[in-house]
Amino acid sequence: MNNTQTENSKQSKNRVLSGIRATGRLHLGNYLGAVKGMLELQKDPNIQTLYMVADIHTITTPYKVEELRDNRRQVVLDYLAAGLDPEKSVIFLQSMVPQHTELSFYFSSVMSIARMQHLPTFKDKVKQYPDYATMALLNYPILMSADILVYKAGLVPVGIDQEPHLEVSREIARKMNELYGLDFPEPQRFATKGEYVPSLKGEGKMSKSVEGSFINLTDDLGTITKRLSSAPTDSGKGTVTRVQNEKGKTVTTYTDQAGSESIGVKSLLEFVELFQGTAKRAEYETLYESTGIRYGDLKKELAAAIFAELKPIQEKRAQLEADPAYVDSVIEAGAARARVIAQETVEQVRTAMGLG
Ligand code: ADP
Ligand code: TRP
Repeated sequence: MNNTQTENSKQSKNRVLSGIRATGRLHLGNYLGAVKGMLELQKDPNIQTLYMVADIHTITTPYKVEELRDNRRQVVLDYLAAGLDPEKSVIFLQSMVPQHTELSFYFSSVMSIARMQHLPTFKDKVKQYPDYATMALLNYPILMSADILVYKAGLVPVGIDQEPHLEVSREIARKMNELYGLDFPEPQRFATKGEYVPSLKGEGKMSKSVEGSFINLTDDLGTITKRLSSAPTDSGKGTVTRVQNEKGKTVTTYTDQAGSESIGVKSLLEFVELFQGTAKRAEYETLYESTGIRYGDLKKELAAAIFAELKPIQEKRAQLEADPAYVDSVIEAGAARARVIAQETVEQVRTAMGLG
């Protein structure tokens, strides 16, 4: 064993990898579900954190070349502005470390086509883009598994929607270990409080592919206020019901005076909890069951609370935008560090599979 190998096995238990596709500006769902977890793990000096822009994953659905070129930089800017620190984390673009795609091909030899076709994430995307059911899309979870396992990362900060992909990465790790005597960890999701940020439209999750569902990290107070103003509400009065689900989590339901469930109000109060705290949400719930909530006031206060959290991020972003050479140097240095670890894993796998 040479020195780097010793380094790899010593650190592998404590490595973290995450990424976000380069499809546009980050929104509050990305921030609360993924970036906040990345930031938390970055604080721990015993953990090596690697954060990339999943630019290769971006080509698994229809895209424009010029937009991809720009968006992958925008995500790096959002990362750095939100507080990812190149002194503490390895920050890079997935496409700058070709070992990811090499490993993903080796991994594809242990997964069946049927298993990939049955994933809910695959089915959803095929429904969304019926003319683009490509091999790249089918391979999406396998490339994601390679992203994680090429660093032998055991922990992955992502939103709850990514759980089916992590399941695939655990299966691949088990199979590779069994078949080839390798030592891949079975990656677990690192969950945050905002693991599922609802859409502003009431139904479903906040997503950049659903217009009107999101608030971007770069939105100013006026835009945030405008986006919140179209979020659906009700008469402001009704009953609050709390039940425990099978996982022991409390599920709250709001039923207005007409007897219909107010999904929009539930989403709004979840935002209140995320940005203004549990006590504030409880205050509104008391009002809902007594004198009534004035949604105009609620939305105004909520917009101010969201903007207060985003303002420093936006200020930092403006500084970074003025210094493209610095951003380039961060990515170059990050990719160089990532390649060293990734190459070592790829060599191990090639040898174990009879290709070395
Ligand atoms: P989108 O659905 O907007 O295209 P992505 O699929 O690019 O977002 O997700 C990037 C990261 O952000 C992933 O870790 C994902 O789990 C997380 N994420 C996206 N939307 C949400 C959300 N509404 N709530 C929590 N996490 C989210
Ligand atoms: N699938 C993730 C998403 O949609 C992006 C991603 C690609 C990723 N590779 C990853 C996330 C590896 C965590 C780890 O957001």
